[in-house]
Amino acid sequence: MINLPKISIIGAGNVGASAAYRALELNLANVVLLDIVEGLPQGKALDMTQMLSVSGSSSKIIGTNTYDDTKDSDIVIITSGLARKPGMSRDDLINTNTKILKEVTERVIEKSPNCIIIVVTNPLDAMTYVAYKSSNFPKERVIGMAGILDASRFKAFLSMELDIAISKIDTLVLGGHGDDMVPLKNYTSVSGVPIDQLVAPKRLEEIIQRTRDGGAEIVKLLKTGSAFYAPGVSAIEMAESILKNQRKLLPCCTYATGEYGIENQFIGLPVILSSKGVEKIIEIELTDIEKNELEVSATHVKDLCDFIDNSGLV
Ligand code: LAC
Repeated sequence: MINLPKISIIGAGNVGASAAYRALELNLANVVLLDIVEGLPQGKALDMTQMLSVSGSSSKIIGTNTYDDTKDSDIVIITSGLARKPGMSRDDLINTNTKILKEVTERVIEKSPNCIIIVVTNPLDAMTYVAYKSSNFPKERVIGMAGILDASRFKAFLSMELDIAISKIDTLVLGGHGDDMVPLKNYTSVSGVPIDQLVAPKRLEEIIQRTRDGGAEIVKLLKTGSAFYAPGVSAIEMAESILKNQRKLLPCCTYATGEYGIENQFIGLPVILSSKGVEKIIEIELTDIEKNELEVSATHVKDLCDFIDNSGLV
């Protein structure tokens, strides 16, 4: 393999494969795709290797069922676990995915004690906590992917509404990755034009609600699983900012220690992602309503984490 950073992706389902594809396409890293199902990661890796002859990337990918192959990864992206079925909330996955996350994390850190972990498994904020607790890593090196995905949905719906290029839309979505996430309309703009000059208040509220329900809308359509292209690409945006030390300001699930009045728990906040992982949490001004919404969302995540602590699973 040529001298690129190493990303291991745990879970070769749709999210894991989409993340792998994106990392290869960007020539960002050599990728190890791991799954417990024999043949699945090998088959997908072989397919992507053949794709590389067309795409021209020099990244390499292997598929495996053994953690030995993940040794000395720079970044490990954890996507393992069950996905939602129609009618399920992300929280319904908590027992099964807690057990999986704990085991996966322990095996990952044995081979890559210096890696940065990006968690994608749901319920996202609680599973990031499980990875943090099971790894004993410093808080900077355990991060959850949600805010970029939620913001991507808000941007997509605004782009559809306005018939405007999605690449020129900017926004932030904070809070937990659940129904009470906090899309920030005051930080939403199109090429610098505040969104309230382009979309009427009532319509904007409808779009915000569709954003909150964005994951469930896709689950309902797919019937057998949840979204994967946007989640996969979002995880790789985080990995890229870390590996290239781009220092992008991105909404990510991070461990707050008093920021926004949130003490010692994971929650989606704006952070700078550098080669250290979470370099810094950025505190921005929120309205009283937004502060209240963030508090409600944080309390919800805290309840899930308390449930995990009391369950004896971790
Ligand atoms: C979603 C799932 C992956 O939001 O959490 O689509």
